Amino acid sequence: MSDERFFVTGALGCLGAWVVRNLIDEGVGVTVFDLGSSLHRLELLMEPEEIAQIQFIKEDITDTEAVARAVEESGANRIVHLAALQVPFCKANPPLGAAVNVVGTVNVFEAAKRAGIAPVVYASSMAVYGGADLYGTEVRDDDPLHPLNLYGVYKSANEGTARIYWQDDGIASLALRPYTVYGPARDQGMTSTPTQAMLAAAKGEPYHISFGGTCGYQYADDVARTFIALARQPFEGAAVFNIRGSVAHMSQVVDAIVAAEPGAAGRITYEETSLPFAEAQDERPLRRLLRDVPYTPLTDGVARTVSHFRQALATGKIE
Ligand SMILES: NC(=O)c1ccc[n+]([C@@H]2O[C@H](COP(=O)([O-])OP(=O)(O)OC[C@H]3O[C@@H](n4cnc5c(N)ncnc54)[C@H](O)[C@@H]3O)[C@@H](O)[C@H]2O)c1
Repeated sequence: MSDERFFVTGALGCLGAWVVRNLIDEGVGVTVFDLGSSLHRLELLMEPEEIAQIQFIKEDITDTEAVARAVEESGANRIVHLAALQVPFCKANPPLGAAVNVVGTVNVFEAAKRAGIAPVVYASSMAVYGGADLYGTEVRDDDPLHPLNLYGVYKSANEGTARIYWQDDGIASLALRPYTVYGPARDQGMTSTPTQAMLAAAKGEPYHISFGGTCGYQYADDVARTFIALARQPFEGAAVFNIRGSVAHMSQVVDAIVAAEPGAAGRITYEETSLPFAEAQDERPLRRLLRDVPYTPLTDGVARTVSHFRQALATGKIE
C-alpha cells in the first residue's frame, strides 16, 4: 500500500466505481462515502476480494458533520467528490437535488478545509452551458454559463462555491465537465441510454435510444482516470475543465455497437432529437495541465463495453 488514501464520494455510482477500481488496481487505499447500499456497479467492475479492500462509509453528503468526520477519520489525503443526483432526479425533487448537489459540495469543501486536503476534485457537467445557439459547435472552458435545467444550475453553483473557497480559504480545486459518459456501470441518468443500448445488444434485445444528433462521448474509465490524475496534481486556484472524448453522431454510436455485436444490426434505433447543448467541448486547457489525458476511441470503448456486458451476462454478474 502507498501512503496515498483517496476519499471518494458517490463511489457506488458509475464514475465512482471506475475511480475505485483503478485505485484498488494500483494498490491505493480507498474510502467510499455513499448513501446508497447497492454494490452492483462495483461488482460489475471488480472481484469480491478487491471490493473487500475498500473502506465503506454509508452516510449522507448533506450532513455537514458526517462528511467532515468521515474525511478526518479516513486519514485520506486525496478527495474526489462525485456524489450527486442526476438530471431526472433533480427535476423530480428540486429541494433534494439542491441539498445533495449544492450543499453536499459545500460540505466537501468544508471537510477538505478542516482536514487540509487539496485540491478538491469534483464533477461539474456540460449541463452548466446553455443551448448550442449560444456558442456554435464547440464550447470553451471560459464560455459564459447559462444552464437549461436545475441540475445545470446546481453544477454552476458548485463551480462558484469552488471559486470562493479558493478566494477566501485558499482551498484549491479541479473539476471536469463530462458530457455523455458511457461504459459498463452507466445505468442511470438522462444520457445513459446509449450504454443501455450496448447492454441490449449484448443480450440480443432491441433498444431505442432516447436522443440523437452529435455530442461528446466519454468512456467512463477515461473520465475516472482523469479524475485520479487531477487529484494528484499540485495546483493553485479553482479550475474547471471541459473533457472532449469522442465527438460522434448517434448513427456512429449505433455503427460501433453493431461492429461489436453484428446481431444488433437493425435492432438499435434512436430518436432524431439532439441534446440541447453544443456538439463538442474544447479540452486544450485540460491537455496543457495533464499532457496525457486518458482517451479511448469510441469504437474501442463501445467494443469493450459490449464485451464486458457479454461476459457479465455469462457469469451471472448482471441479469
Ligand atoms: N454520467 C455522466 O454522463 C455525467 C456527466 C456529467 C457529470 N456527471 C457527474 O459525475 C458525477 C458522477 O456521475 P455518475 O454517473 O457516477 O452518477 P451516479 O448517479 O451513477 O452516482 C451518483 C452516486 O451518488 C450517490 N449519492 C446520491 N445522493 C447521495 C447522498 N445524499 N449522500 C451520499 N451519496 C449520495 C448515489 O448513491 C450514487 O452512488 C456526478 O456528480 C454527476 O453529476 C456525470
